[in-house]
Amino acid sequence: MLKKLALATAIAASMGANAADQVEVLHWWTSGGEAAALNVLKDDLGGNGVTWQDMPVAGGGGEGAMTVLRARVTANNAPTAAQMLGFDIQDWGAQGAAADLNDVAAAEGWDAVVPAALQRFSKYDGKWIAAPVNVHSTNWVWANKAIFDELGLGMPLNFDQLVDALDAIQAAGYTALAHGGQAWQDATLFDSVVLATGGVDFYRKAMIDLDEAALGSDTMKMAFDRMAKLRSYVDDNFSGRDWNLASSMVINKEAGMQIMGDWAKGEFLNAGQTPGEEFLCFRFPGTAGAVTFNSDQFVMFAVGDDRQSAQGQMAKAVLSPSFQSAFNVVKGSVPARTDVSDADFDACGKKGMRDLADANMNGSLLGSMAHGHAAPAAVKNAVYDVVTAHFNGEFSSDDAVAELVAAVADAQ
Ligand code: GAL
Repeated sequence: MLKKLALATAIAASMGANAADQVEVLHWWTSGGEAAALNVLKDDLGGNGVTWQDMPVAGGGGEGAMTVLRARVTANNAPTAAQMLGFDIQDWGAQGAAADLNDVAAAEGWDAVVPAALQRFSKYDGKWIAAPVNVHSTNWVWANKAIFDELGLGMPLNFDQLVDALDAIQAAGYTALAHGGQAWQDATLFDSVVLATGGVDFYRKAMIDLDEAALGSDTMKMAFDRMAKLRSYVDDNFSGRDWNLASSMVINKEAGMQIMGDWAKGEFLNAGQTPGEEFLCFRFPGTAGAVTFNSDQFVMFAVGDDRQSAQGQMAKAVLSPSFQSAFNVVKGSVPARTDVSDADFDACGKKGMRDLADANMNGSLLGSMAHGHAAPAAVKNAVYDVVTAHFNGEFSSDDAVAELVAAVADAQ
């Protein structure tokens, strides 16, 4: 009898310990490269006795994940942490659903090492509510090196040269541009095209200040014309295709290039490829010197006392320098702290880190509209709608400009 009781007590204690050591994490990292990066985090936490309860919600850009998260919090069943982008973090801060991470932040010295451009999203009302795990940027092109070599193509430096390269690839019988027709992917192209067409000040005025004159300008019309031009290089089956399948087309030499954020690099690496050998990375032509960024952050939700210790451990782990290097090397992104060495990063990662530091110094670090760092969700979604409808031929460029001005005004 006594033995039985002791056993029951031991089991109860171990169950209690398990619950306390667990983090439940909601995220949208379901592609091969993303899952590989997530494993770095799971293993890191596992090594510290924290177990991982996975809550994946597929869908690049995270729209699906945000819908599930809202339902969970409404049902009073918030996860320990949720992957989140930019303005969405601020929305949750305003709703008072987030935990207060100021103690961890102070103990770990986050204020001194996390760039201000990220802190602006991680903190609400002076309180750290999220731990940034990376910095991605959207103005990249990923190219198949064998195709470039075969056709004698160099790195295009402006839009006309990009078009020449796409023409050559198409003429050789490849799909010139690997793309997936989903609103967030179309909008990811739009980040680069707006920046290349109008430059840094124009991007800031239109996408961040939401200035009506910039949104309705001839420059914006030209950006839409360029989107239509890019549309002419995608294959017939592009509708609804996931971004990682578009990456695979470049990896497998079916397509010449993909215009995508540097999470795409995670797919190339996961396929065993190396930059400069099987694939090339370069900034979207005409955007060199500027960076349209987004940062994945883990928003920590207010949870019961029993779950707070594991939550704090996760927050601490996410921003530790060694983890920031190990994780971002795999993910394709760059560290969310300024003091991490680039020694373990490949050529694209080293360039990404340099570009980020330079852009930060030169005032050309811009929040990505497509990935939630230029404007709140309502505006972002309004931009998605117009960009996608135009990309699919529903609007002329003139109409798209007018629709964009109206939709952005309505959404505010
Ligand atoms: C982005 C996110 C990246 C990557 C991508 C595709 O919004 O920041 O980490 O996951 O979506 O899923």
